[in-house]
Amino acid sequence: MSLKASVLTGLLCVLLVGCGSQSATITVSGVVFDEAQIAQGQQLYGQYCASCHGAAGEGQFPDFPLLPDETGRFGAPPHNGHGHTSHHPDNWLIDYVRNGGISLRNPELYYPMPAFDDQLSDEQIAQIIAYIKTIWHESP
Ligand code: HEC
Repeated sequence: MSLKASVLTGLLCVLLVGCGSQSATITVSGVVFDEAQIAQGQQLYGQYCASCHGAAGEGQFPDFPLLPDETGRFGAPPHNGHGHTSHHPDNWLIDYVRNGGISLRNPELYYPMPAFDDQLSDEQIAQIIAYIKTIWHESP
């Protein structure tokens, strides 16, 4: 192999490895979610979650995402790297979306996080969590 060819081959490997690490496997509760399922989750997120948590997961109050507003209540937190969604275990997240948030018991402290168990199946909730996992370390 000529020097030029081996340099090119080396470069190609770096590029391939680089691409491979970007599309890391996404799992929810140990189950692998493929691109089609994640795309489905993104669509459901847009339909059911984005109105409060932001189209790109930036939260209800992107300028001060983790602080209360002038009414003294916390809004929907970001699901991107400015939030802390990644700190919760998968089953906790699924239950939270299924049953609603602590806000339902503390309406004076938080804007409401509704329960979705009558609108979304567990499979759909897991697809949404899989999508959120693709953005939860992003810090735009
Ligand atoms: C009507 C507004 C609203 C909608 C719609 C909404 N949320 Fe929330 N969400 C909130 C608020 C407010 C909080 C913070 C208060 C609380 O936790 O109860 C919250 C908290 C959360 C939390 C816990 C905090 C965290 O970052 O881990 C998760 C997870 C969550 N929401 C996921 C979702 C998902 C997934 C959807 C769509 C299926 C959704 N939410 C739809 C308002 C909303």
